[in-house]
Amino acid sequence: MTNARFKRLTSAMNIMLKKISFFAILAIIISLTVPSCYYDNEQELYGTTTCDTTAVSYANDIVPILENNCYSCHDNGNFSISNAQFDNYNLLKTYATGGGLIGRTNDVSSPMPPAQLMDECNRNIIKAWVEAGAPNN
Ligand code: HEC
Repeated sequence: MTNARFKRLTSAMNIMLKKISFFAILAIIISLTVPSCYYDNEQELYGTTTCDTTAVSYANDIVPILENNCYSCHDNGNFSISNAQFDNYNLLKTYATGGGLIGRTNDVSSPMPPAQLMDECNRNIIKAWVEAGAPNN
């Protein structure tokens, strides 16, 4: 093989290799980006959305839920609507230990809040807190 022919051959191979690596990189990029769209759903990945019901705190978890969903009819200023006051730990605890709190927040025929039951996570957090003895933590 002459030197000139060898040079032509190697440069042709070089171009082929560049084309192959271009398509290889393209294929890798496509495989990384396209299928990920289908699996980015937390519910499909883990079977459930994350809801932390461990070590529930009255101050950090329960009060905010009640504030957002219950105080409008159940706090010191509004309890005349419902005859039950929940912005006071000791009063709330009587409903917690008496069963009313878990009962009504999961009662489809007489839900609390009356408009509709809260999402499952909020209900499970309240349930976990009551089952832990409704501590003032
Ligand atoms: C729009 C007003 C309103 C909201 C918001 C509301 N409630 Fe009530 N709730 C009432 C009324 C009115 C009653 C009394 C009539 C009845 O028992 O259905 C009541 C009664 C209750 C009772 C029974 C009290 C008893 O004397 O035995 C519980 C327990 C209760 N609510 C829990 C909750 C909780 C927990 C929330 C929030 C997650 C909530 N409610 C949100 C209006 C409300």
